[in-house]
Parts: sequence; C-alpha cells; structure tokens
Amino acid sequence: VHDALSKTDLLARKNEEALLGGGQARIDSQHKKGKLTARERLDLLLDEGSFEEIGKFVMHRARDFGLDKEHYLGDGVVTGYGTVHGRLVYVFSQDFTVFGGSLSETHAEKIVKIMDLALKNGAPVIGLNDSGGARIQEGVVSLGGYADIFYKNTLASGVVPQLSAIMGPCAGGAVYSPAITDFILMVEDTSYMFVTGPNVVKTVTHENVTSEELGGASTHSTKSGVTHFTAANEVVCIQQLKQLLSYMPQNCEETAPAQPYAAQGDESRPVLDTIIPDNANQPYDIREVIEGLVDGDSFMEVHKNFAENIVVGFARLAGRSLGIVGNQPAVLAGVLDINASTKAARFVRFCDSFNIPLLVLEDVPGFLPGTDQEWRGIITNGAKLLYAFCEATVPRITVITRKAYGGAYDVMNSKHIGADLNFAWPTAEIAVMGAKGAAEIIFKREIAAADDPAAKLQEKVTDYQEKFATPYRAAHRGFVDEVILPSQTRQKLIRAFKMLENKVDTLPRKKHGNIPL
Ligand code: COA
Repeated sequence: VHDALSKTDLLARKNEEALLGGGQARIDSQHKKGKLTARERLDLLLDEGSFEEIGKFVMHRARDFGLDKEHYLGDGVVTGYGTVHGRLVYVFSQDFTVFGGSLSETHAEKIVKIMDLALKNGAPVIGLNDSGGARIQEGVVSLGGYADIFYKNTLASGVVPQLSAIMGPCAGGAVYSPAITDFILMVEDTSYMFVTGPNVVKTVTHENVTSEELGGASTHSTKSGVTHFTAANEVVCIQQLKQLLSYMPQNCEETAPAQPYAAQGDESRPVLDTIIPDNANQPYDIREVIEGLVDGDSFMEVHKNFAENIVVGFARLAGRSLGIVGNQPAVLAGVLDINASTKAARFVRFCDSFNIPLLVLEDVPGFLPGTDQEWRGIITNGAKLLYAFCEATVPRITVITRKAYGGAYDVMNSKHIGADLNFAWPTAEIAVMGAKGAAEIIFKREIAAADDPAAKLQEKVTDYQEKFATPYRAAHRGFVDEVILPSQTRQKLIRAFKMLENKVDTLPRKKHGNIPL
C-alpha cells in the first residue's frame, strides 16, 4: 500500500512540475510582457476539458554547455489534441518559459508526432509559436529538428489545414514552418517574424531598424503580406483562429460543415441595386456587395491590409462555406497587380485544396501598367492567379458587377477557364479595353482625318460603348449565362451553388503541376 501511494505521489508531483514549465518566476515575467503562457493559450483555444496532452514528460537529451544539469518536463512545447467547437484539432504550443521556447531535438520530435497523427487521422494542426529559435546549445541536432518539421508541413500541405499563430519571437529558420502552413496570424506589439534580426541587418546593410519595424504584425500585414491576420491581443488572435477553422473541413476528403440555415423565402436584397454608381469611373466598395450577398455577419476577410485592390475571404451563403475573391474598385480602380495576383492565387488554391466553393466578384479594368510591375514580373505573378483558377475543381461562380476588361477578363474565373456559371449585372462592361482607348486605336486614321477630331472620337467611343460596354455580346455567345439584377443575385447564387453541390471534376493525372513561381 505504501509503495502504491508513493508511486501515485510521484506521478502527481511530476504532473505538477510539468504544468509549471520553466517555473513561476518565468511565468510571471511572461505575464509582465503582456503574454499568456503556452497552457493558458490552449485553455482559450480548446473546448473546456477537451485537451489531451501527449509527451508531457519528454526531456531533452543534450549534454553540452551545462544542459545535462538543466531539465524541464515537456521541453518547451505543450503538444496534444482537443476539440474546437466540437471538432478534433491537433495542437502544439511553445512554452517561452523553458529555454525561451527554443527548439531542441526532442521539442521538434513532439511537434512531428502530433503532425503524423493529424495526417493519419485527418484533422487540422494549429501551432502557437513563441520561441527564441533553434536551441543554441544543441547545434545541428536542433536544425535537423526544424527540417523534420518543415518536411512534415510540406507533406501535410493540402491534406489537413495548418494554422500558425505567432505570439512572440519567431526568427531565423523558425519562420519557415509557419510560412509553409496555410494561414499565419500575428499578435500586434508582442510578436515578430524575420529571417535575420535587427543586429544582423545593421551589420550587413547598415540599416537601423527595430524588431517591430522589421517584422512586427503591422509590417507583415501591410508591406510583406506574410501574415494573413493581425490581432490586438492574444485573446482576439485565438478567437480568429477558431472562426477561421469554422469555414474549413477537417481534411481534403471532406467538405466544410454547414451551419443550420432557415430558408427565408424572399432572398432578394434591394440594397444591392443601389451600389454601382451611374458613372463607370466612380469607385465603390466591393465589401458592400459582399456583405449584401452573404449570410449576416459571416464574412471574414483574409489579408485585409495587403494588396487592398483585391478582397479575399471566407463567408457563408445559406449556411454553406464559401471563398470569395473580389476586385476592389475603391483601391487603384481594382486593377490586378503583382501583390493582388499572388494574394488571390494563394487563397484560391487553399479553397480548392479543401473543397470550399469559390465566388468571384469581378470589376477589373485590367493589369497595372508600368516599369515597376513589368520588371518585377507581373507576367509570372499574374500567371499564378490564372493558373490557380484554371486548376481549381471546386464549384466556381463569377458575377461581373462592372468592368471585365482585357486579359483580366479571362483571368478572373471566366467560363473559358472552367467557371461553372458566369452571371453579369446590367452594368457589366465586357470588352478588350475601355471604349476611349479602343476607339483611339481602331479609328486612329479616321479621327485624325476628321474636321473635328474630338467629335469624331466621341462618336466612335459612343459606338464602341454601345456595342461592347455591355454584358450582352458575352451573353449572346454564352460566355455569360444570365444577366441578372443585383437584388436577385443572392437568390441566384444560393440555387446555383446548391445545384453544384455534388460537382465532380478531375485534372489529368500528373505528379504535380508547375505553377509559375
Ligand atoms: N536557445 C537556447 N536558449 C534560449 C534561446 C535559444 N535559441 N533563446 C532564448 N533562450 C533562453 C535564454 O537564455 C533565457 O534563458 P533564462 O530564462 O534561463 O535566462 C530565456 O530563453 C529567455 O530569453 P531572454 O533572452 O531572456 O528573453 P527576451 O524576451 O529578452 O529575448 C529573444 C527573446 C528571442 C529575442 C532572445 O532570447 C534571443 O535573441 N534569442 C536567440 C535567438 C537566436 O539567435 N536563435 C537562434 C537562431 S534560429
């Protein structure tokens, strides 16, 4: 009896010790920085009481630099599984109180272990990152651990959703695991990501830059586009993670869960008839169209502050998950440029990987002209979006709200590249280019020879406009399936996506395509 009791005590003691990570003083210091601990974060993320820990007593095996005398149960990362809104997820949460959350061989093994389980059992992996990088005392063993994770991230890509929240430092090699995952979320002021830190930057390029400027949440949400979301604090960040998960299926074999939706009979939305300005050169906010079309407050914008000339995000239509890509006439007239193309391409590929149908709202005057864009490769980058749409096999519907010009018409999910249905509003203008530019080119000589060239130009512009600045030429050809009123669009889309619910489409057998990177 005595023996059994002491063994139970030993277990209890070890459990207590593991919960304390690097000890109370370091927990206090973490709190003082405005950060939660690894376990507190998991408590917020997972359904109450659902967390099951794996590898709680794992310890590092390092011997050098005094590490043989310093051990912490769990070795700086809490791993396991639990549920979010009742659905299984695998999690790892780095514990900054243990060697600064740095990644050792065993720390990496723990992460790889839950990723293997996630792959075999088909459920998302969520990483909460807060780490000083490779465990310096371990050297190459730790670097090997990173590579094991990158490899697994890549194998899991497109099989199960992978989400990364950055809640502290994430530097050097550490950035590449989040970078391979599907979505990155960063907490403002307390997190940063960079490949080389301010000190190295100063030595190499002589730039003086703070961690925040170099790789804080606002930098990566606006300048680099590395992060898809930012949050004012950790609690908001975790709420975003949960909301994001709600639009996704568990894995690539499933479809996203539908939310209960009571059909309302009248799905018309008269407010949509008032959004497009009379003057085709006037901007409007495509978000108003999105909000008008989708269920209640269901729209969650991705990459909100990056490449704002295109809007992408998740929403629900009659309870079903939807990925939305919309040109944004309110910014740069909604042109496609390098950043807009790569932003949308990545989003389209995510949705296609995970069977989330796509709705495209099109109002695009073309690609952004200029040496900057050409020299940085708008050709290669624009091709990414084209390629992403071409290879997408999910249900795909386009609504042309206004302009659909030039090559951009083809790119933005046209029927020619596999869209299932293409609707246009009466305000749609589907043409090779704007009427003025077109008239100037094709009637150049006639205009020059006219007594009144300005009047001649105007006459030709009007002629071109009447012929092509409408949806009807495209509708006569069947490139547009139906011209519909904005107010009817929600109803049309609900029916159309329902009709496409069981779509099966396959690509030719191949190892993998070669998207122009
Ligand atoms: N390996 C081993 N231990 C590390 C570590 C690493 N990569 N990064 C941090 N630690 C340890 C620190 O020694 C310290 O230990 P202690 O609690 O016993 O004193 C603890 O983690 C906290 O680090 P500290 O530097 O006090 O925290 P901070 O908030 O002031 O700074 C960092 C955080 C990440 C900026 C800083 O620790 C750092 O620069 N780390 C090294 C980053 C790096 O170059 N990594 C390797 C390349 S990938």
